[in-house]
Amino acid sequence: MKHPAMNSDDRRKFDALTTRRWRQRLLSWYDHNRRELPWRQDRDPYRVWLSEIMLQQTRVSAVLDHYCRFLRRFPTVQRLAAARESSVLAAWSGLGYYRRARMMHAAAKAIVKQHGGKFPGGIADLRALPGIGRYTAAAIASIVFNAPAAVVDGNVERVLGRVFGAGLAGEPLWQTAEALLSRRRPGDFNQAMMELGAVVCLPRQPRCSICPVFSLCATRGSLQQVKKPIRQNRRDIYYALDRRNSSIFLVQRPKHASLMPGLWELPEIPISSASRPFSLTVRHSITVTDYRVRVMRGPVPVQSRGRWVPKTRIPQLPLTGLARKILRQAQVI
Ligand code: ADE
Repeated sequence: MKHPAMNSDDRRKFDALTTRRWRQRLLSWYDHNRRELPWRQDRDPYRVWLSEIMLQQTRVSAVLDHYCRFLRRFPTVQRLAAARESSVLAAWSGLGYYRRARMMHAAAKAIVKQHGGKFPGGIADLRALPGIGRYTAAAIASIVFNAPAAVVDGNVERVLGRVFGAGLAGEPLWQTAEALLSRRRPGDFNQAMMELGAVVCLPRQPRCSICPVFSLCATRGSLQQVKKPIRQNRRDIYYALDRRNSSIFLVQRPKHASLMPGLWELPEIPISSASRPFSLTVRHSITVTDYRVRVMRGPVPVQSRGRWVPKTRIPQLPLTGLARKILRQAQVI
């Protein structure tokens, strides 16, 4: 279907009038419908930065608690820069993708050292910081500093693909987003585009009946994303939960492990040694694998190098998400 208001020589751009309509309708919808989220209360660059990093690969609902807790622990970029890495990882625990936390920590140090603790406002300076790429730089620059830089994330990509009825990717996708961007309110516009994708233009069942830009859309619900069902693998794994007085036996993952280096967890028991009755079963999914996690109380049946950690110290340790889940269910923390 060809859209009436599109330039005939370019299927990825609206004409000037339609562009204006798009901006008006989207921003007005956003003003009336936006979710009240903690990082939308002010335009503090540190808070906006933290939210944008946490929201990468993680849904809003999963971020909320972590975001507030992290800010209580590290309320300013100076406090984050001065922290030990293990404390930063502990505050990140449960969110996954720990590289994001390490990069934020490195960037906080650079902001304090190279910029006197003041967040740089220019795109180039932002992108020079660890862990800040094109998306994050544009998000911070537009939301905090009102810079005319468009963002493209998975939601924006889906919205634009449907609106223009064309598979858009790479540089043309970014250019399409730039052409639509409101120069007057770039930060709100970017957030409105992402919000539209998150709550209206849903991957499988877009809610076209409540869409503020329905009449400007080329596909109007006909382009539903058919996701190939991913086959989940199932696996059983076994852990030992050993208590002595008020301490728990924990092991630290190797510093050079490719996954979650340096994080603490319960000792794993090889399947061949998993013989005792289980005291606890926990379900845990990581990407394409659903784990059934069996926890056995008592000593580890095989030699395991680890440490007895007092229960009161455990909440401050950088734990893996799974270890935290088990210790919570066992009412240790
Ligand atoms: N996803 C990532 N950042 C967002 C924001 N600021 N608003 C809405 N969705 C988002």
